[in-house]
Amino acid sequence: LRYAPLPDNLRQHASSLALPSAIVTLNSTEASPIQTAGKELAAGIQGVLGRSLQVSHDIATASDLSSSILVGTVATYSSAGYGSLNASSFAADGFWLRVNGSSVTIISQNERGALYGAFEYLSRISQGDFSDVDLLSNPDAPIRWVNQWDNLEGTIERGYAGPSIFFSNGLIVQDLTRVSQYARLLASVRVNAIVVNNVNANPSLLNETNIEGLGRIADAMRPYGVQVGISLNFASPDLLGGLKTFDPLESSVITWWTDKTDELYKRIPDFAGYLVKANSEGQPGPLTYNRTLADAANLFARALQPHGGIVMFRAFVYDHHLDPANWKADRANAAVEFFKELDGQFLDNVVVQIKYGPIDFQVREPASPLFANIPNTNTAIELQITQEYLGHQDHLVYIPPLWKTILDFDLRVDSKPSLVRDIVAGRRFNKKLGGYAGVVNVGTSINWLGSHTAMSNLYAYGQLAWDPTQDSQELLQDWTRLTFGLDQSVVETVSKISMASWAAYENYTGNLGIQTLTDILYTHFGPNPANMDNNGWGQWTHADRTTIGMDRTVSNGTGFAGQYPAELAAMYESVETTPDELLLWFHHVSYTHRLRASGKTVIQHFYDAHYAGAETAQTFVSAWEALRGKVDAERFEHVLFRLKFQAGHAIVWRDAVCGFYHNLSGIPDEAGRVGHH
Ligand code: GCU
Repeated sequence: LRYAPLPDNLRQHASSLALPSAIVTLNSTEASPIQTAGKELAAGIQGVLGRSLQVSHDIATASDLSSSILVGTVATYSSAGYGSLNASSFAADGFWLRVNGSSVTIISQNERGALYGAFEYLSRISQGDFSDVDLLSNPDAPIRWVNQWDNLEGTIERGYAGPSIFFSNGLIVQDLTRVSQYARLLASVRVNAIVVNNVNANPSLLNETNIEGLGRIADAMRPYGVQVGISLNFASPDLLGGLKTFDPLESSVITWWTDKTDELYKRIPDFAGYLVKANSEGQPGPLTYNRTLADAANLFARALQPHGGIVMFRAFVYDHHLDPANWKADRANAAVEFFKELDGQFLDNVVVQIKYGPIDFQVREPASPLFANIPNTNTAIELQITQEYLGHQDHLVYIPPLWKTILDFDLRVDSKPSLVRDIVAGRRFNKKLGGYAGVVNVGTSINWLGSHTAMSNLYAYGQLAWDPTQDSQELLQDWTRLTFGLDQSVVETVSKISMASWAAYENYTGNLGIQTLTDILYTHFGPNPANMDNNGWGQWTHADRTTIGMDRTVSNGTGFAGQYPAELAAMYESVETTPDELLLWFHHVSYTHRLRASGKTVIQHFYDAHYAGAETAQTFVSAWEALRGKVDAERFEHVLFRLKFQAGHAIVWRDAVCGFYHNLSGIPDEAGRVGHH
C-alpha cells in the first residue's frame, strides 16, 4: 500500500514497455468498491511509476481500450457490451486478472472481488513485475474475517499497539479516518469482514447512540468491501433491555433479539453478523437456564437469517475453575465435550469458530480435535495475529509456519484425508459456509500493530485465508518487497530471521509441547514456569521433582488423545509414536526420558533448546544491523530497538526456564552452563 517509486532501473525498463494509459471503471456510484479500485489503481501507478492516469466511468469517452485498465463485474462487463463471461467460474469475491501488454482487465463476480484484483495488479507492478498474466483467483473459503478485542472505553484486550481506533469513553469515536485506512489495509489482503468489539462484550454497544456509531463505522469500511459485525453479550436482554431474563427460549428474549437485529439492519443493510462467546471465562450463556449452546446460537441465527447475516459461535467454552489436583481434569477436553453432541443441531447460518489448538494460542499445540468431531456443522478456524503468547510484538515471531502445522494437518476422519484447511473450507464435509477468523487488535499506533515486522503476520493471514496452500516464505518475501523495497539483501535478511523466529521462540519459551511457559495469571508476557500449575486455568505442566507433562492418554490420563480419529488417537496414546514436539502435551514422563529423534533426555533437551533459541535471537540483531542504510532510518531504528530487546529477553527466558527446572530436578546440564551464573 506504500506505492513506493520503483528503483530507476526498473522505471526505465517500465518506460520501454507498452503500459496502460487510462483506467475505466464500470460503476460510477460514489464509494463503491469498483470506484475504490479505480482510485487505488490511479494512486498506485502514480506512486510506483510516476504516471498519472485518468479514471473514467463512461466507456464511450474512454481512450483506446487496448491500452486501458478495465475494472468491472461480470454483470457490468456484459451490460457494457464487452461480451459475456462464464459467470459460474467465479466464486463470490473471486476475480479474473488479465494483463496482455498494455491492456489490463479486472473482472469479478461481486464488487469487492474487483478491488482485490486491482490490489493484485498493484502488488505485481510494485514488485517490478510487468509480465502478462491470465489469472482466475477464487477464495478457498467464504469467511475471511478479522476480530478486534476492543473495549468501548478504548482499551484493547491483548492489544499491544495503543488504544482503540474504534471506541473511546463508551462511544464510537467521531473521526473515523483510521477506520477507513484499516478497511483499506484489510481489503488489500482480501479480508471481507470485521468484528469490531471484544468477545467479552459490553451490552451498551447495542444502545441507540452506538448503533448509529456502528453505522458510521460500516459506512467508512464499505468502500473497501469490508462488512461489519459485532460481538454480543449474551445477557443483553437483561442487562440492557431490563427483561430480568436472558433465557434463549423465552419469547420476550427472542423478541428482544429479533428487534435489535432488525434495528441494526435498518442502519447497516450489509451487516455481517454476530460473534458469540458464551459460558466461557465468566461470560453469561445459555447453560444458566439449562439450555444448550445450540439453542443459543440458533436464537441469533433465526434473527439474522432474513437479513442474510451469520453467527460465529465460539467453541472456546471451558471451566476455568478446574481442580489441579485432579489427574483426570483437562481443559483441552472441553470443546469436544460441549460440542460433539450438538453436531447437526446448528442452523445453516451458524459457524462454530474453533481456536487452532485445544488450549489457547500456545507456541505449539496439536490441531483441535473438534475439527474432526462435528462433520454436520459449519466451522471456522480462529488464529491470532496479536502476539498474546508470542512476545507481544516485542519479539519478532513470524507465525504462518505455526499456522501451517495446523492447516496442513491431516485428521484422518474415517481414515480418509481430512486436512484442517479442507474442513474449514467446507470441502471435506460438504458445507457451504466456513473459513477463517484472525484476532488482530490493531491500535492507534502509526504502524498498526506496534511493530513494523509484525505486519507480515497480518499480510500472510489474509493471503492464507484466501489460499492456504501458499508458501509461508514466498508470502513473506512479497510482503518484504512491498514493505521495505526490492533490495535483495533486505529481502534475504528479513526472510532469514523471520523464518527462524517461530522455532527460536519455541526453543527459548517452552518446547516438547509443554506450552509457552509464561505468566499465565496476568500478563502472558515473560517467563514464569512456576505459575502454570496449581491454579484453575488448566494450562498445566504437572511438573514435580522427577517428572513433567500432561498425561492425556486414554489408558492412564485425561483421555484427550481419544478425541482424535482412530489413527491419530493410537499415535498419541503411545509415548513411542507421539512426535517429540508434542511429547509433553500428551505424556507425563521422567526428566530422564529419552527423545526419539535425538536420544537426549528431556531435561537436557530443555537446556540445549533454550540455549539454542536464545542464541538464534542474538543473530537477529547483527543480521538486521547489516541493513543499515538500506532501510529508511526511522523504520530501521524501530526494528533494531525491538530486536535488541528480544535478544536480551530471550536470555532472560533461557535462564529463568533452565534455572527453574534445574532447581526442581537437581539434574545438572551436561554442558555445564545452567546454575553457574
Ligand atoms: C484468552 C485471552 C483472553 C480472551 C480469551 C478468549 O484466554 O487471554 O483475554 O478473552 O482468550 O479468546 O476469549
